[in-house]
Amino acid sequence: MKTKPYVRDKSALGYSVGVTLDRFIKSKQDDFPFASGELSQLLRDIALATKIVNREINRAGLSNIGGAFGQTNVQGEEQQNLDVIANIRFTRALSKGGEVCAIVSEEDDEVIDLQNQSGKYVVAIDPLDGSSNIDVNISIGTIFSIYRRVSPVGHPIQPEDILQKGLDQVAAGYVLFGSSTMLVYTTGNGVNGFTYEPSLGEFFLSHPNMCAPKTGTIYSINEGMTNQMDEGLKNYIQYCKEKAYSARYIGSLVADFHRNLLKGGIYIYPATQNTPNGKIRLMYEANALAFIAEQAGAVAIDGTRRILEIQPESLHQRTPLYLGSEEMVSMAESFIKEKVLNS
Ligand code: AHG
Ligand code: MN
Ligand code: MN
Repeated sequence: MKTKPYVRDKSALGYSVGVTLDRFIKSKQDDFPFASGELSQLLRDIALATKIVNREINRAGLSNIGGAFGQTNVQGEEQQNLDVIANIRFTRALSKGGEVCAIVSEEDDEVIDLQNQSGKYVVAIDPLDGSSNIDVNISIGTIFSIYRRVSPVGHPIQPEDILQKGLDQVAAGYVLFGSSTMLVYTTGNGVNGFTYEPSLGEFFLSHPNMCAPKTGTIYSINEGMTNQMDEGLKNYIQYCKEKAYSARYIGSLVADFHRNLLKGGIYIYPATQNTPNGKIRLMYEANALAFIAEQAGAVAIDGTRRILEIQPESLHQRTPLYLGSEEMVSMAESFIKEKVLNS
């Protein structure tokens, strides 16, 4: 029988869909000969929950699941229906997978002990970030951190398994539900971004080895708070204006961060007179994005300290956040320290 070799016709199909998230995770696991595959499975569990949450979000305008849930969370913020739905979806996916022993979520007052003593990992999650934007059809996100438990497997979980520094993360990621849905993650060896193709139900590698520009011309801050800010920060904002930087602030941290990661910019949620610790949660938001930022060559500080080095003292602890391109964060830090005087 005659055979002919298969030659891929690159021109015929418009574009090549390329590497799926599953295949990418598997190829990375193969780099570590003794890896057990549990972290890989955990990342797949998160990706599956993401697809389900993506479906809920896309239907929100039609299916009567927008709007407020009618309760406030532990932070005193009004929970939206989709906050609650996303929290349930992620918790369910993580508890069924078997790799996780405990979850801490922005939407739950206490640690969720999955009673799975063989689970090696702890997950911290903001199931829906920017949830006040759901009902107005603006980009929202999910943020997650993964830690290895420090107490021995086979025993009940301990407080030290939960309150770990950002530096101890073994993986972190975010999902952006925007004009397309993207999942971006790191396991401490660079940052890679995947775009969801809904008709195939798969994430495909679209942004390999993401690197943040060293500097940029975008500043993202809620300027409505200006009167509440310290003088040094006011001076930095004035500096941004004198440089004619672009002000871009969506009010969904994931979306603001993602834009600035790609284009170069700084996101600031400062300490203010009304909120002396800022608003952003260290364990659910700041740590994951700080890990990703550093892996992409960007920076995250609380004004003076590196975010990843802060020892959390409580689950829902807040932190001021200066996040983004290295030179911009460094300039903001100088203004805060009043090393640079506004001229
Ligand atoms: P969440 O919806 O998870 O509570 O987070 C909202 C956060 C963050 O995403 C955003 O940048 C910030 O709150 C917006 O706060 P302001 O409305 O005070 O600017
Ligand atoms: Mn959030
Ligand atoms: Mn949230």
